[in-house]
Amino acid sequence: MSLLRLENVSAGYGAVEVLSDVTIDVAPGEVVTIVGANGAGKTTILRTIAGLVRPRSGRKLIDGRDVSALKPPAIVDLGITLVPEGRQLFPFMSVRENLMLGAYKPAARAAIPERMEEVLALFPRVRERLDQYAGSLSGGEQQMVAIARGMMANPRLLMFDEPSLGLAPMIVKQVFEIVDRVVAAGTTVLIVEQNIYHTLSIATRGYVLENGRIVMQDTGPALLRDPHVRRAYLGV
Ligand SMILES: Nc1ncnc2c1ncn2[C@@H]1O[C@H](COP(=O)(O)OP(=O)(O)O)[C@@H](O)[C@H]1O
Ligand SMILES: [Mg+2]
Repeated sequence: MSLLRLENVSAGYGAVEVLSDVTIDVAPGEVVTIVGANGAGKTTILRTIAGLVRPRSGRKLIDGRDVSALKPPAIVDLGITLVPEGRQLFPFMSVRENLMLGAYKPAARAAIPERMEEVLALFPRVRERLDQYAGSLSGGEQQMVAIARGMMANPRLLMFDEPSLGLAPMIVKQVFEIVDRVVAAGTTVLIVEQNIYHTLSIATRGYVLENGRIVMQDTGPALLRDPHVRRAYLGV
């Protein structure tokens, strides 16, 4: 059974429909990616899963249960966390405080010290910065804090929205190493990323989203070889 399923979901903002009839499955242990141009609706899919955007039609299922009406904290409680585009840290709070905010559900809060140790073991660079203001860190370090914060909730599914956006190539490599570490730790991942070469090469499956519709799905490596994907998204 899918950990997460969007079933024929349409969603949007005000009068504008952004997603049309989107069906996506994520099974436990998978790394799933969504490929699409700017404005295709990738962030809207992640926000819909997180409960920040409500489906207008269709259903959202977690472990087969209809959770379409649940609010964002309830989705986190069910084990799904979003690392949002642009990090969205609290700049005038310490790194430690930012991390603690990732563990706001009651069960996670009780276990903060243990969980923080587990997370910091994955992110040694973050440990060195615990007492600094989050806003004083470099872009790459802030992205690592944002991912570490997402891990604090001990999610079953961690969603990444453009984790490498705006970062220098060398830092992008480090962010992908972190993503790989999250995957290796056994966390299921749904990732949206402009740098599709890396994500498609690690993805068990990928979906191609065009104008709010899924137009193609296959294994990551098969999409990477696909002529349409190569022309439209890799420029080759
Ligand atoms: N808060 C919002 N209000 C109105 N329109 C929005 C909002 N957020 C995104 N959109 C529109 O929805 C479409 C899809 O956006 P988005 O999901 O951010 O795409 P992507 O992440 O693939 O770039 C775009 O046309 C965008 O302008
Ligand atoms: Mg986006």
